[in-house]
Amino acid sequence: MKQSKIIGLGHYVPQNVVTNDDLSKIIDTNNEWIVERTGIHERRWFEPGVDTNANMGTKAAQMAIERAGIDVKEIDFIVFATITPDYFFPGSGVLMQRELGLQGIGALDIRNACSGFIYALSIADQFIKTSMYKTILVVGAEIQSSALDKSDAGRSSSVIFADGAGAAVLQATDAQSGILSTHLHADGDFAEELYVKDPGSSRTVRLSPELIESGSFNLHMNGNAVFKHAVVRFQEVIMEALAHNKLDKSDIDLLIPHQANLRISSFIQQQLTLPDEKVFNNIMHYGNTTAASIPIAMSEAWGKGLIKEGDLICLAAFGSGFTWASALIRW
Ligand code: COA
Repeated sequence: MKQSKIIGLGHYVPQNVVTNDDLSKIIDTNNEWIVERTGIHERRWFEPGVDTNANMGTKAAQMAIERAGIDVKEIDFIVFATITPDYFFPGSGVLMQRELGLQGIGALDIRNACSGFIYALSIADQFIKTSMYKTILVVGAEIQSSALDKSDAGRSSSVIFADGAGAAVLQATDAQSGILSTHLHADGDFAEELYVKDPGSSRTVRLSPELIESGSFNLHMNGNAVFKHAVVRFQEVIMEALAHNKLDKSDIDLLIPHQANLRISSFIQQQLTLPDEKVFNNIMHYGNTTAASIPIAMSEAWGKGLIKEGDLICLAAFGSGFTWASALIRW
């Protein structure tokens, strides 16, 4: 059976840097609170008219393709993870496919929020393992800033979420390295703890002044519930991946957690007793970019030379759904 190897990684973040001080000018918050509770110092918010969900994905993909040293035409399938597509439908996968000049190949959209990139990676991995496709582009891209309630009422979410895109090129290999396993979970009992309710389809009219007035188009998060479940599920799903591969937490060379909140990452690091150099965080600069956070972090870590041949890389995520997931990769 073939294995899937990540042969290129790329990312793109909007030029527009929004610092905590910038936020404190529009909402009742302050740098100290945000840094202490989330670890975030600044984030990127898209520039209307410049960035779109699909074209941020395209830019990240182009960087990944260039770093992989392949021709774009070698890509035979696209998996695009986002919960903030440019259109209600079709998904961003086809829009990015068009921008890349890859009309004709399949393009699948994944809507699993912060776990979306690992779900996408897992699907791409299954297609490669069964030899259906040879080279797959997996992208996570998100524009969350336009769904944030930027009034005082929304301040616990609006300081966290942000925009960006990351991409990975997966290719079939006969080597025993690559993606060792992926582990996917969900529990819909908690669907409304972190969600955007509207524009939902089960309404007579999807858009109305009353609905807009109600704020149901904004992201809603029960921060305490998310935090409590995240710290348990992150650890569980990492241990599941290690047990499945008969490996120990001490075998991990680099843990790249979804950048949900620095306090969550630090908690997991403590639980797993991993030293600082074995956990990669960049939430300080980018905030929580949902499905884009893991590929942006992986791309940066790779660019900095922190991921080397033979390393054991662990990816783990938790988010809306609730969903949670992990992947172990032998680089
Ligand atoms: N600035 C200043 N004060 C704020 C604030 C902000 N941005 N947001 C909330 N507060 C205030 C609250 O109003 C509350 O004030 P009160 O005590 O006067 O009522 C106080 O801070 C504590 O609020 P609380 O919601 O209990 O804070 P918290 O310690 O739970 O932190 C989160 C809030 C959102 C940072 C925290 O719950 C969290 O990190 N949750 C996980 C979020 C996450 O990871 N989401 C991504 C999932 S993929």
